[in-house]
Formats: sequence, structure tokens, C-alpha cells
Amino acid sequence: MEYIEQKLQDLDKRNEKAFAGGGEDRVKKHKGETRLTARERIDVLLDPGSFVELDRFVTHRCDNFGMGSTKIPGDGVITGYGRINGKSVYVYSQDFTVFGGSMSRTQANKILKIQELALKNGRPIIGLNDSGGARIQEGVEALGGYADIFLQNTLASGVVPQVSAILGPCAGGAVYSPSLTDFIFMVKDTSYMFVTGPDVIKSVTHEEVTKEELGGANTHNQKSGVAHFAAEDDKHCLLLIRELLNFLPANNVDDPPVLPTNDPPDRIEESLNEIIPDSSKKPYDIKEIITKTVDEGYFLEIQQHYAQNIVIGFARYNGRSVGIVANQPQYLAGCLNIPASIKAARFVRFCDAFNIPLVTFVDVPGFLPGTDQEWNGIITHGAKLLYAYCEATVPKITVVTRKAYGGAYDVMSSKHIRGDINLAYPTAEIAVMGAEGAVNIIFRNEINEAIDKDAERQRLIKDYETRFNNPYVASELGYIDEVIEPAMTRKRIIDSLEMLKNKKDKNPPKKHGNIPL
Ligand code: HXC
Repeated sequence: MEYIEQKLQDLDKRNEKAFAGGGEDRVKKHKGETRLTARERIDVLLDPGSFVELDRFVTHRCDNFGMGSTKIPGDGVITGYGRINGKSVYVYSQDFTVFGGSMSRTQANKILKIQELALKNGRPIIGLNDSGGARIQEGVEALGGYADIFLQNTLASGVVPQVSAILGPCAGGAVYSPSLTDFIFMVKDTSYMFVTGPDVIKSVTHEEVTKEELGGANTHNQKSGVAHFAAEDDKHCLLLIRELLNFLPANNVDDPPVLPTNDPPDRIEESLNEIIPDSSKKPYDIKEIITKTVDEGYFLEIQQHYAQNIVIGFARYNGRSVGIVANQPQYLAGCLNIPASIKAARFVRFCDAFNIPLVTFVDVPGFLPGTDQEWNGIITHGAKLLYAYCEATVPKITVVTRKAYGGAYDVMSSKHIRGDINLAYPTAEIAVMGAEGAVNIIFRNEINEAIDKDAERQRLIKDYETRFNNPYVASELGYIDEVIEPAMTRKRIIDSLEMLKNKKDKNPPKKHGNIPL
């Protein structure tokens, strides 16, 4: 008895040492008002009591610069597995109080073990990042550790969902693993991502920039599009991750979860009949159509502050997860530009990789014209979205609410690129371009020769509108399957999803395609 008690006391002591992280002072400095410790973060993220830690006593093996005498059990990262809403997930959480959460060879080995387990077992992996980058004292061993993690991130891409939270200053190599994952969450005012920090930038380019301006949550959610969510604090961030996980399957051969709902599948939403303005130049909020049609009005928007001319996110129809893509007439008239194309393309590919049906709401006047767009490669970037929709084999349902002009008509999940069910409101305008532009081009001579040029132009515009600005030419050709009353949108989307439940489609065998990057 005494023997086992001694052994247990020894184990307790070792555990206590590991739980202390970098020590009281560093923990105090780290915590502040809204920041949690690495262990507290795991507790908020996972179902209570479900976390099982692995490798608690791992220490680094570096002797450089006096490091031999500074071993802390766990070596700056807590790794293990647990559950989110009853479902298995794998997690790692970097501890900034231990060598600034920096990446050592042994820290990398711990993360790799978790990545490999997640991949073998087909479960999501969540990384809670808080790290000063490669452990400077270790040199190339730390770089090697990073590269091994990047490789696992890449191999796991499209096989299991990978989610990253940035919960502190992530610098150098610490940003590249998250950037290879599917979703990046940041916390306002306390998290940063940059490849090189303000000091290096100042010495190289002489630019002066604060950490916040350079790589804070607002910067990466609004300007760069690197991040997908901006949370208010650590707790909010971790709860948001739980919400996201609720929409996702465990892996690429699982079906997404179905959650029970009290929202009737045949709910008719009369107010949608009033939503499209009388003038096709007037904006309206596409999110109103989304929230009025999905289960209980709940829409988890992704990248809501970036490229707001396109809206993406997850919702449910009759309990089933869908990915929604929608042009937003309230911003840049809902046109497709470079950021919007990239934003939506990545999302479409994520949904397709994880068997999540796509519902696309279309109100798009075309691609944004201008030298800025052309010189920065709208041709290549716009093609990303086209490619993503073309290769997607999940059920694809499209609802044209108003404009579907030109190339953007083709791109936005049209029938021609394997849209399964293409619906249109009676207000839809499916044409090569808007009436005014079209008339100015094809009737230039007639207008110039007319005595009253303006009157002739107006007459021709009216004529073009009557002929083309409707959904009926496309529906006569079978490009639109049904013209629906807007009030019926929810019911029809649910009917379509039900009808497509067993859809099987595939692409020709290949090593991988060559998406225009
Ligand atoms: C070893 C590190 C470290 C690192 C921080 N620490 N970063 N130790 N390697 N990379 C240690 C500090 O020595 C300190 O130890 C503790 O962590 C807290 O750091 P502070 O500087 O006191 O914290 P703070 O003021 O909040 O500043 C945080 C920081 C800063 C902005 C992250 O520490 C920093 O700039 N670190 C270096 C960032 C960097 O350049 N990383 C790039 C590495 S190269 P004590 O004992 O005092 O508590 C890289 C390339 C990989 O990552 C490329 C792969 C593609």
C-alpha cells in the first residue's frame, strides 16, 4: 500500500509541475482579463470532462544556450482528444507561458502524433495557436518540426476538417500551419498573425506599423481575408468553434450531421414576395432571404467582414447542413471581383470535399470592370470560382433571385456546370448583360441615326428588357427547372435536397486537377 501511495504521490507531483506551465508569474502576465490559459481553453472548447491528455511529460532535448537546465513538462503544448457535442475531436493547445509557446522538435512531435491520430481515425483536429514561432535556440530542428506539421496539414486537407484558433501573437512559422487548415478564428485585440513582425518590417522596408494594424483580427478579417472569424474574446472564440463543428461531418466519407428542428419543412414565407425591389438598380439584403428560409433563421456566416459582395456560410434546411453562397446586392451591387471569387471558391471546395450540399442565391450583375481587377488577375481568380463549382459533385441547388448576367451567370452554379436544381424567381433577369449596356452595343448605329436618340435608346432598352430580362427564355431552354413564387423558397430547397439525397456523381480519375491558383 505504502509502495503505491508513494508512486501516486510522485505522479501527482509530476502532474502538478506540468499543470503549472511556465510558472505563476508568466501565467499571471499571460492571462489578463479575457485571455485564458492553454488548459482553460481546452476546457471551454470540449464537452466537460471529456479531455484526455497525451504526452504530458514530454520535454525538449535541446542543450544550446543553457536550455538543458530549463525543461518544462509538456514543452509548451498540451495535446490530446475529447468530444464536442458528443463527437470525437483531436486538439492541441500551445502554452505561451512555456518558451512563448515556441515550436521545438519535441513540441512538433506531440502535434504530429495528434495529427496522425486524427487522420487515422477520421476525426476533426483543432489547433489552439499561441506561439512565437520556431524555437530560436533549436535552429533547424525546429524548422524541421514545422515542415513535418505542414506536410500532415496538407495530407489531411480534404480528409478531416482542420480548424485553427489564433489566440495570441503568432509569428513566423506559427502562421503557416493555420493557413493550411480550413478555418482560422482570431480574437480581437489579443491575437496577431504575421510572417515578419513590425521590427523586421521597419528595418527592411522602413514602414512603421503596429502589431494590430499589421496582423490583428480586424486586419485579417477585413483586409487580407486570411481569417474567417473575429471573436470578442477567447471564450467566444472557442464557443464559435463548437458551433462550426456542429455543421461538419467527421471526415470526407461521412455525411454531415442532421439536427432535429421544429421549423416546418413546408413553411411558406409570404414576406419574401415583397423582398425584391421594383427597380432592378435598388439594393436589398440577400441575408434576409437566407435567414428567412433556413431552419430557425440560423445562419453561421463565414468571413463576414471580407469581400462582403459575396456571402458564404453554413445553415440547415430541415436539419441538414448546407453551405450557402450568395451574391450580396448591398455591396458593389453583388458583382464578382477578385476577393469575392477567392472567398467563395475556397468555401465551395470545402463543402464539396466534405459532402455538404451547396445552395447558391444569385443576384449578380457580372464581374467588376476596371484596370485594377484586370491587372491583378480577375481572369485567373474568377476562374477559381468557376473551377470550384464545375468540379463540385455534391448536390447543387441554385436560386436566381434577380440578375444573372454574363459570365457570372455561368459561374454561379448554373445548369451548364452541373447545377442539379436551378430555380428562379419571376423577378429573375437572365441575360448576357444589363439592357442599357446591351442596347448601347448592338444598336449603336440605329441610335446614332435616330432623330430623337434618347427616345430611341429608351424604346430599345424597353424592348430588350421585355425580351430578355426574365427567367422564361432560360426556362424554355431547360436551364431553369422551375420558376417559383419567392414565398415557396424554403419548401422548394428542402424538396430539392430530399430529391438529391442519394446523388452520386464523380469526376474523371486524375492525380489532382490544376485549379488556376
Ligand atoms: C524561443 C521564445 C520565442 C521563440 C518568444 N519566446 N518567442 N523563445 N523562441 N521564437 C520566449 C521569450 O524569450 C520569453 O521567454 C517568452 O517567450 C515570452 O516572450 P516575450 O517576448 O516576453 O513576449 P511578448 O512581449 O508578448 O512578445 C511576443 C512575441 C515576441 C511578439 C511573439 O516574443 C517575439 O517577437 N518572438 C519572436 C518571434 C519571431 O521572430 N519568430 C520567428 C521565429 S522564425 P521568457 O523566458 O522571458 O518568459 C520562424 C520561422 C519558421 O518561426 C518558418 C517556417 C516556415
